[in-house]
Amino acid sequence: MTDMTDIISNFKSNGQAHIFTHFDKLDKVTQDLLIAQASSIDLDEIAALHQTLIARRSEATTMSLDGLEPADFIPLPHADAGRIREWCEATAIGEAALRAGRLAAFTVAGGQGTRLGFDGPKGTFGVTPVLKKPLFQVFAEKILAARRRYDHNIPWYLMTSVLNHSETVSFFEQNDYFGLPADQVHFFSQGFLPAIDSEGRILMSAPGEIALSPDGHGGALRALVRSGSIARMESEGTDLISYFQVDNPLVRCLDPAFIGFHLQRDSEMSSKMVLKSNPEEKVGVFCEQNGKCVVVEYSDLPESFTQARNPDGSLRFASGSIAIHLLNRDFVKRLGGNDGEAKLPFHLAHKKVPHLTEDGSLHTPDSPNAWKFEMFVFDALPFAKNPLVIETSRADEFSPVKNADGVDSPLTSHQDQLRQFTRWLREVGVELEADESGLPRVNFEISPLFADTAERFQKAWKNLAFKPKIGTGVIII
Ligand code: UTP
Repeated sequence: MTDMTDIISNFKSNGQAHIFTHFDKLDKVTQDLLIAQASSIDLDEIAALHQTLIARRSEATTMSLDGLEPADFIPLPHADAGRIREWCEATAIGEAALRAGRLAAFTVAGGQGTRLGFDGPKGTFGVTPVLKKPLFQVFAEKILAARRRYDHNIPWYLMTSVLNHSETVSFFEQNDYFGLPADQVHFFSQGFLPAIDSEGRILMSAPGEIALSPDGHGGALRALVRSGSIARMESEGTDLISYFQVDNPLVRCLDPAFIGFHLQRDSEMSSKMVLKSNPEEKVGVFCEQNGKCVVVEYSDLPESFTQARNPDGSLRFASGSIAIHLLNRDFVKRLGGNDGEAKLPFHLAHKKVPHLTEDGSLHTPDSPNAWKFEMFVFDALPFAKNPLVIETSRADEFSPVKNADGVDSPLTSHQDQLRQFTRWLREVGVELEADESGLPRVNFEISPLFADTAERFQKAWKNLAFKPKIGTGVIII
């Protein structure tokens, strides 16, 4: 009882008394849930965030661009014999690490996916051209294929949020973990913060419920530690974490070349980049500043930088971040622990959040009314020893599902998958009619269990006793 009284009076003395306006009318279970939610909120942290990020936002200086240079990166080998050798060496090192069981796959799936507007965790959204396999299944099959190829357990960690945890776990249970051993798939929920209005008042989504939102993909570092995942990795001998987002079906979940370069250069955090498609593309850019690797958000990069060109005419700040990283387990432990050497900064997002008004009715706003706070995983880069950026091909590895339509939508991702499958088939001599963008006239798909890269496709195709004729609806498994 004292606890409950203390919590309520703490909220009252911090200007948040409205949280408990309807408390006496709630049933006991809802009261307990509200108290549990309230007790997990650090009111000092919220007040400080309001003060520094919102109340004084007009004074907020934009990030300093002093000494900002494009970050170095390892380019794709293309036809350069020396580079091809380097990539082959890196691949061999990465494959050895996979065979030794040093890798864990890690998906951040705690986002709300508001832009897609799909009712359910984004990972349950169907993306493949014919079967409409959900994103989770695509990743599961890539991990399953890697387990078979390297003949070793590869645990898969998934970060969910308080808003989608149980739905995500049930989805895996209902689908038998898509063929992966259940004890190798680990879920944990990330941290959260309340949404607040411009005056710093915490918003309620129902009389007994605070409007909570996840603390951003950067919350992964502390959630990996708090959930015991890092301790589990230590006990299992997994020391490298292959990080990817839930929205990109083309991602190579466990890329030996990437792993090999990361190990060769003794990096604590490595990242993949693609060349920006145009100066205005809305992706963060890898830069170097005062000897540190940083990602500068597109909104922070002035036009003089986004438009800057090299003498050969190419874009100067061209390294687009695609949110694929490798993290050393001990680096995550160092940053994500309670006494972590560094706290990642919070960024502000202004969003539409349905909330209770003073008269107790639910208001659904049609313009942004609330502030949310998020950490970004790439803010860990400046703390990493020997951070490394390597290039990958956009066509082969990046086609996220972000929006309901237009760019980065289910349609563009579907088409990019088809183009990739068509390139693989053409490389083994199969003739397929396609338009000038490489999009075939027929709709088919290739399972990640058959192949998930061009090289693997070539091998698997060669071994096929009976070669299917590609037409609409064909599925190569
Ligand atoms: P996005 O930046 O695309 O955000 O997340 P989102 O919340 O999924 O989608 P919108 O902006 O509401 O439309 C990029 C990746 O980071 C994960 C997402 O699940 C996605 O894989 N993420 C994002 C988290 O895991 N937690 C978060 O708090 C935010």
